[in-house]
Amino acid sequence: MRNINVALGSRSYPIYIANGLINDLGTYLSEMPLGKEVLLVTDTNVGPLYGQKVADVLLRAGFQVAVAQVPAGESTKTLDQAARLYDMAFDHGLDRTCPVVALGGGVVGDLAGFVAATYMRGVPFVQVPTTLLAQVDSSVGGKVAVNHPRGKNIIGAFYQPRAVFIDVDTLTTLSLRELKAGLAEVIKYGVIWDKEFFAWLEENITRVLNREADALGYVIETCCIIKAAVVEQDETEQGRRAILNYGHTVGHAIETLTGYGTYLHGEAVAVGMVLEAQLARKMGLLEEEMVIRIQNLVSSIQLPVSLPTGLSINDMIKSMYTDKKVTQSKLTFALPTSIGVAEVIRGVTESEIFSTLAERLIV
Ligand code: NAD
Ligand code: GLY
Repeated sequence: MRNINVALGSRSYPIYIANGLINDLGTYLSEMPLGKEVLLVTDTNVGPLYGQKVADVLLRAGFQVAVAQVPAGESTKTLDQAARLYDMAFDHGLDRTCPVVALGGGVVGDLAGFVAATYMRGVPFVQVPTTLLAQVDSSVGGKVAVNHPRGKNIIGAFYQPRAVFIDVDTLTTLSLRELKAGLAEVIKYGVIWDKEFFAWLEENITRVLNREADALGYVIETCCIIKAAVVEQDETEQGRRAILNYGHTVGHAIETLTGYGTYLHGEAVAVGMVLEAQLARKMGLLEEEMVIRIQNLVSSIQLPVSLPTGLSINDMIKSMYTDKKVTQSKLTFALPTSIGVAEVIRGVTESEIFSTLAERLIV
């Protein structure tokens, strides 16, 4: 068992990482000050795999469980789905002490967290992430949201969970494509924070791809430690937390312009990391040798490193201006200045972005 504390004063919480952890979830939750009615939110892929098992362990620990199974996929992160979950919470008799438990990937975590943050002005929230992306990123740090027709994650809150339970065994059923997409975020942590971890990934990436339990456990623990450290410095993204957005400014533009679902989030971030490293080099912030190492690690797991055919660079730049990260019309990027160090750079010029993207467009 690996145990990390996210130190946020009265909002502090533990992250537990272990194989087979969902079998002990009832015991853990019964030791927390929680009401007995539970809304367990999962999706149509994860529900059939783990929903019954989790419901059973909670029932055995004395909880009454209502299982809400939402359609799998990004299109489920809507106010309509949130409203359906409010109805279920009400019907099941959840009061302010009763938890919403998210069992699934980032979609389920963000949606269930948004419901937990808003139902009765906030009820306890517990994360049980089941994708690599959710285990290393979205389940930690308290960003919860649903999408608006005009933008991703536009309606949301910072709402920390009471605990995060990461069962590494759940990754055995995850598709290889989803695992690789999660690895993009893993590489991100190496680039922005930890050069030794980046070097470890260069040496051990095959072990991770083969889902060796030790390697996965180490990767998840390291990423959670880094994410916790960043969030502890800047919980509500007033500044430093934005380094976690490395690769995401270009990545979000790709997702928006190709239509959500063509590229998995991590695949778009993979392209974004390579292009934003190039941008940093063009701006004189990063050495060419570092760009090559980043690109080599990304492409060693067959993640994309170039922009897709047919994208308009002007449309991409326009899309970057609609990103939540834009303030006062200034384009902001989280850029690496070395492997293991990143800075938030405001006011990057359109011409620097244009020439970087133009070099990496597949025609
Ligand atoms: P996801 O939740 O859609 O999961 C990916 C797919 O894997 C889904 O089809 C899901 O049903 C399936 N799945 C999940 N666990 C599985 C398992 N163990 N076995 C088999 N199949 C499984 O996607 P994701 O990549 O986990 O998360 C993406 C979402 O996370 C986006 O909405 C993004 O905005 C959000 N996100 C939030 C934060 C944050 O800080 N809150 C950070 C990054 C991303
Ligand atoms: N995923 C970026 C953040 O949590 O800030």
